[in-house]
Amino acid sequence: MKKPINASSISRCTAMVPLPAIMLPNHPSVKRLSKSRLGMQPVNNGDVSDLDVQQGDLVIGSGWHPALFRAEVSALTSNIDESLTPRILHVPSSKGLEGAATVDQILRHFGISTIENLDNDFSDWLEVNSLSIDQTVAVRWSRHGERTSKGIELAKRIGGILHSNGFRIDLEEPEQTIQLLISGSDLFWGIPQLSEPPRKEWKNRVATRRPFFKPVSLDPQHARLMINLTGNGGPVLDPMCGTGGLLIESTLMGLESTGVDLDPEMVEGSKKNLQWCGGHAKVIHGDATQLAHLDIGGFRSVCFDPPYGRNAWRSDSILNLFTSVLNSIHSVCEDGAVMCCMLPADVEQLNVMGMKWQKMKELFDKTGWRIDGDWKIPVHASLSRRLVRAVRIPV
Ligand SMILES: C[S@@+](CC[C@H](N)C(=O)[O-])C[C@H]1O[C@@H](n2cnc3c(N)ncnc32)[C@H](O)[C@@H]1O
Repeated sequence: MKKPINASSISRCTAMVPLPAIMLPNHPSVKRLSKSRLGMQPVNNGDVSDLDVQQGDLVIGSGWHPALFRAEVSALTSNIDESLTPRILHVPSSKGLEGAATVDQILRHFGISTIENLDNDFSDWLEVNSLSIDQTVAVRWSRHGERTSKGIELAKRIGGILHSNGFRIDLEEPEQTIQLLISGSDLFWGIPQLSEPPRKEWKNRVATRRPFFKPVSLDPQHARLMINLTGNGGPVLDPMCGTGGLLIESTLMGLESTGVDLDPEMVEGSKKNLQWCGGHAKVIHGDATQLAHLDIGGFRSVCFDPPYGRNAWRSDSILNLFTSVLNSIHSVCEDGAVMCCMLPADVEQLNVMGMKWQKMKELFDKTGWRIDGDWKIPVHASLSRRLVRAVRIPV
């Protein structure tokens, strides 16, 4: 069984080695990274946090939506050194990514090579790295993209090098693990920092398991993604909170949270769900177009998904209604607040909430919301969404 890696013990091991633990990979995609950015310069003070920051980590994406993966990592760490592949990012520090919805794994003390150069590069990596010779080790492998028959062979090659360097291999219950990732003919490896993708821990509260469920309920993964994308922390507002999908996540993240819904059944349902998950959000019966009347304010983040039924946004009054919603949210937010909303779109994404996308963008602008990111999210054959992020500016 795969054992979780204890990050603190890794850091202790690292502090004992005189040089930082990154090889300079002889790898085309990494040639653009300078030696110093990859942590090749000597570190003499033995400060663990310094060492970690200098070396950086590889962040491995789930593969679901590479653009959103990059955006989420960027929002949470505000710093990406390099995209090595659409699913692999090099960051100076992965602090804060343990709760990212699109992240599968974080590799520390990483090495990069190709199938051809693996033996030499891995041996070099091993020389400067901090694996404990006293602990058993296993190599786990996974792939991105095309199926490969080479995984076992490559893992064995690494195992052979470890063995000839005096390491004891234990595939059942290893005390330390090396994760090998195969992406075409490129190889990436390192010490995994997560025992499993963060989103796996959230599956016990997927929408269908909650006491109050409606088909509109957002799943933890989408909710987390939206909150993370704001990158702004709390207090958080969901002005159309429905069953509380976003509130559950924001409150479990420790953010002060407030939800509003026009439908009393949803308000009661949200409260029930929050109680069930141990969350503490304020839920108010009210109208998203009249938020200033609710005695709430000072929000730094706003996340919501408006009704998305086929007919919900068809009427002529839609322009007025959504304008009122955006104005109303603006009135209860601080300057610099970030809004992230999931809007219904047609499959071609020409129309968003029944409006031409260009017109919708103008609407955001007019109401004091500067769009700084938008992503298309296919849902099924006839439904699609557009995830929009916007920053509050004075009007
Ligand atoms: C798609 S659902 C939100 C789903 C929610 N994110 C969840 O996880 O359950 C949209 C919600 O907007 C609410 N709504 C519609 N018009 C509203 C308004 N003017 N003010 C507040 N809520 C409104 C609906 O009652 C519905 O619960």
